[in-house]
Amino acid sequence: MQNRQVVVENLPTGKLHCNNFKIKMGLIPKLSSGQVLVRTTAFAITAGARAGLQGSASYAGAAESDVVMRGTGIGEVVESTNTQFPVGSMVLGPTGWQEYAALNSRSLTFIPERYDPLKFIGPLGINGLAAYFGLFRTGRPVIGETVMVSAAAGSVGHFAGQMAKIIGCKVVGVTGDDKKAERLRNELGFDASVNYKSENFRNDLKLATPDGIDVYFDNTGGDILGSALFRLNVGGRIACCGVVSQYDTSSPDSGPRGIPGLLVNKRITMQGFLVFDYADEYQTARDEINKWIDSGQLIGWTDEVFGLDSAPEAFVNLLAGGNVGSRVVRLD
Ligand SMILES: NC(=O)c1ccc[n+]([C@@H]2O[C@H](COP(=O)([O-])OP(=O)(O)OC[C@H]3O[C@@H](n4cnc5c(N)ncnc54)[C@H](OP(=O)(O)O)[C@@H]3O)[C@@H](O)[C@H]2O)c1
Repeated sequence: MQNRQVVVENLPTGKLHCNNFKIKMGLIPKLSSGQVLVRTTAFAITAGARAGLQGSASYAGAAESDVVMRGTGIGEVVESTNTQFPVGSMVLGPTGWQEYAALNSRSLTFIPERYDPLKFIGPLGINGLAAYFGLFRTGRPVIGETVMVSAAAGSVGHFAGQMAKIIGCKVVGVTGDDKKAERLRNELGFDASVNYKSENFRNDLKLATPDGIDVYFDNTGGDILGSALFRLNVGGRIACCGVVSQYDTSSPDSGPRGIPGLLVNKRITMQGFLVFDYADEYQTARDEINKWIDSGQLIGWTDEVFGLDSAPEAFVNLLAGGNVGSRVVRLD
């Protein structure tokens, strides 16, 4: 049996292109002690993976070519040397973009049967958890405050905005598409949504935030961050989640005007976070998020594409704003 894989053929020098990847026929790996062989059923396409190909901006370290594209997926255990992960069970782990992966047990999360496994690459996965910890631990909004979220119709963004609504905040989403903006208001209950590609973006943001902004959940950096800084209230908090506006390039812009001047004058706290720092608390967060899903308070938009071959195009397209919610590639 063969193991079809998407391999990084060469690192992007400008914008990402499908030619940066190739499909390769690998071998099904042999297991070492403690390892588990996982047959991937689906994996997530995430914006942060583009930072991984940039290298310096990523926690993942130096970017490499001629390796299987990294990524988080779910799959079925088909061979195991660890009784905690018996054959037939479903797991979440760093499968990469391939059909089979030999993974160390430590890197795996067992998915109990009561859950839909797909939720583990959606609201109960890294992006749902990033929204949860970034919002509540770094942004720290309280009832009645105004929370602005960028890349709001994307995976992390649509979770973060809904979580802020759940605790009683006013939520303003920023996206690059009018249809997405409308869906945020009509389907997810955002109080307002603004298109950053509009010529009137700054004024639209002003109109959408009559009481200013108390918390800005920043997925994009760039000009949107620059605009948010001017609307932030005294004592405002910026939760720096990611910088998607600067990922798909080899020459990221410098930071926006207003730092540190506006931070000083308005006593704004700007703090980055990494979801992995909260690994010990994932289960508690998953229990709470799952309750919100069951009660209908939190909706996970899933944007599915099918087949390993479609992954490179799905990634390029996500960076151009083609996704709504969590984009997953299904292999099952
Ligand atoms: N800190 C952490 O631990 C952590 C963990 C997970 C993810 N993240 C970060 O979370 C952010 C969102 O990741 P995701 O996987 O959920 O991706 P996503 O939001 O589902 O997809 C990316 C979205 O970014 C928007 N976008 C693309 N180019 C843009 C630009 N120049 N300016 C503004 N928006 C742009 C597009 O939407 P539009 O149509 O609206 O333009 C696109 O749909 C990323 O910054 C990622 O690095 C951080």
